[in-house]
Amino acid sequence: MRAILCSRNAHKARELEVLLPGWTIEPLAADDYPPETGGSYYENASIKAAFGRTRIPGWTIGEDSGLEVAALGGRPGIESARYAPEGAPAIAKLLGELEGVEDRRAQYVSELVAIAPDGEEFRGTGVVTGRIAMEPRGSEGFGYDPIFTPDGEEQTIAQLGDSWKARNSHRARSAQALREAVDRRGSA
Ligand code: IMP
Repeated sequence: MRAILCSRNAHKARELEVLLPGWTIEPLAADDYPPETGGSYYENASIKAAFGRTRIPGWTIGEDSGLEVAALGGRPGIESARYAPEGAPAIAKLLGELEGVEDRRAQYVSELVAIAPDGEEFRGTGVVTGRIAMEPRGSEGFGYDPIFTPDGEEQTIAQLGDSWKARNSHRARSAQALREAVDRRGSA
């Protein structure tokens, strides 16, 4: 099955290609993506998938994700991509906000929406809980992965690596839920 991923994030396309076996995921190159004005991950994922349908016929996929930090009242949350420039600046800003803060609990959330050629919508949600490390460690993954230590682990996701992510991440879980939703339709 071929699906268009409505995202500019090449990391996500690569991860989803592994997470959705049997699907060929092609990122949609567009410079006029609509702004992420939804009030939830689901709404933003739907906006992205619906935008794809205006460009290319066939299955389209939208994904929206974020990092929610308990001590920051759930920020940056759906604003994660706009919190600070991706990578070192975003990590430095978050560690700065958490300086001296003992409660390091956080979670990653991923919402996937797939729209079939006939317009039927499928969705999958995934969450992984953990804590924010005191300093960045590791080199795999992207975004906040060098400072996110999943529950039950001592290393950050950037240290645990892509194979850990493919089995356990928020996106692995939302992709699994999406696959199950699409499979239920196939067997209905
Ligand atoms: P989106 O493209 O609007 O969904 O932005 C998601 C943002 O959340 C990214 O830019 C990252 O800052 C953060 N994020 C989501 N998933 C991950 C992940 O797997 N690793 C690291 N950061 C992530």
